[in-house]
Amino acid sequence: MTSETLQKARDFETRYGPHIPDGERPAFHATPTIGWMNDPNGFSFYRGECHLFYQYHPYSNEWGPMHWGHLKTKDFLRWERLPAALAPDEEYDASGCFSGGAVELPDGRQLLMYTGVQRHHNAEGFLEDVQTQCVAIGDGVDYEKSTLNPVLDRKDLPQGGSAIDFRDPKVWRGEDGTYYAVAGNRTEDGSGAILMYQSTDGLKWEFVRTLDRCNNQYGRMWECPDFFPLDGMQVLITSPQDMKPIGLEFHAGNGTLCLMGRYGPEAGFVREQVQAIDYGLDFYAPQTLEAPDGRRIMIAWMQNWDTVGGKPSHCRWFGQMTLPRELSIENGRLYQRPVRELEAYRRNPVIHHHILVSGEANLPGIQGRVLDMTVTVRPVGHGSYRWFRLHVAKDGRHDTIIRYKPEESILKLDRCRSGLPRDIVHTRSFLVRPNGGEIKLRVVLDRFSVEVFVNDGEKAASAVIYTPQAADAITFEADGQVLIDVEKYDLIFDENGGETGRG
Ligand code: FRU
Repeated sequence: MTSETLQKARDFETRYGPHIPDGERPAFHATPTIGWMNDPNGFSFYRGECHLFYQYHPYSNEWGPMHWGHLKTKDFLRWERLPAALAPDEEYDASGCFSGGAVELPDGRQLLMYTGVQRHHNAEGFLEDVQTQCVAIGDGVDYEKSTLNPVLDRKDLPQGGSAIDFRDPKVWRGEDGTYYAVAGNRTEDGSGAILMYQSTDGLKWEFVRTLDRCNNQYGRMWECPDFFPLDGMQVLITSPQDMKPIGLEFHAGNGTLCLMGRYGPEAGFVREQVQAIDYGLDFYAPQTLEAPDGRRIMIAWMQNWDTVGGKPSHCRWFGQMTLPRELSIENGRLYQRPVRELEAYRRNPVIHHHILVSGEANLPGIQGRVLDMTVTVRPVGHGSYRWFRLHVAKDGRHDTIIRYKPEESILKLDRCRSGLPRDIVHTRSFLVRPNGGEIKLRVVLDRFSVEVFVNDGEKAASAVIYTPQAADAITFEADGQVLIDVEKYDLIFDENGGETGRG
């Protein structure tokens, strides 16, 4: 049964969603049907297709009572819009259906697990949440909330766990048929922990263990966890709030954390390494799936809570997802590469080899705002350059700059002049593995974003831009002398895109 609240959201999106012309959206990054989007939810395969739900407030471009929007895709790039899946229409989720996961059940139905939020005034008159975990079961379009909801609440918390901050269950089915879920929780020290639960049917859940705890070391509350094996290791990812900067690895505010280690039923999760996930400006709440072919693919909200004020006024959609990325562990680090499906949309190759750059230059055929470009930079001899800049989305007034300084091996992303109307943070610098002054930058542009993949996925950096589309120049600039190779493709999502092979 579709509730009145859900029907209202569905009617609203059917009525106003189609008013947004395609050209006013990214070509292949997921956006909300109308209104506001934050975290990816329920990123998973169901009946052979990839479903992506998202935190959704259709009625404005601001966060509001959370619904779940719904998209699906066959190739991670072309998204089909489905009606909103969940609305805050029960007592236990009246203040919002917060983030969660999805899993296919053996009987062919799909189970959504999400956080139900009830907000009330506490004894001091402050607004306070009660957060519980809930489930809804459906057919890929319509979902029925379980009469057993909430399926996890304060009684299922370990000692000292907070019922106010208990959210974002990510659910999966183990090889033995057992369901597992990980959720974020606040502990008695005020910081975060990741809890693990298990279930035989997806409805009745029991606490297994605390997988890891923040101990006030990496931010405070840990949100949106995910937990999966990858290349012989076990990976726990989470998005901490209130981070303090640590070198160039972690910036202040909402960050992302990748904890790599080992997992066993006896020892639990033993953390061995810690790193950030994306080193750009806009990246939060990543979630992964395992594709039928075994790839571990991650998608994230290409935004950050601290930068949401930087939106164009009156925009009718706000919030987009990153390009889905294939994950691997190489050299003890998390590597990310755009899903290989992107290559099927490459058209109009322009290739330049061995070009000497000294000062600023542009190259024939290299411009555009929806493209996939790889630039390899080599010094001409030791110390031949002090910095190299790649300028994209450029005209006389606009410029988005990716700068590399070989001495320090620091890459900087600068979107100060990229059409954002607010004085929020616009630059980010991070370290890359030094390689004798050589660096390889794969840059994916999609109208309102830039994503940089460094040295074949060693580091990724994402940023939203709102530069007018006419600003499509690309230039190369060196202080000193470099040799570059450039390989650039337009990404074209026409009717037959992806299925016709390369043009
Ligand atoms: C993370 C988050 C989640 C929560 C959701 C609410 O961005 O704060 O913890 O479930 O957003 O929209």
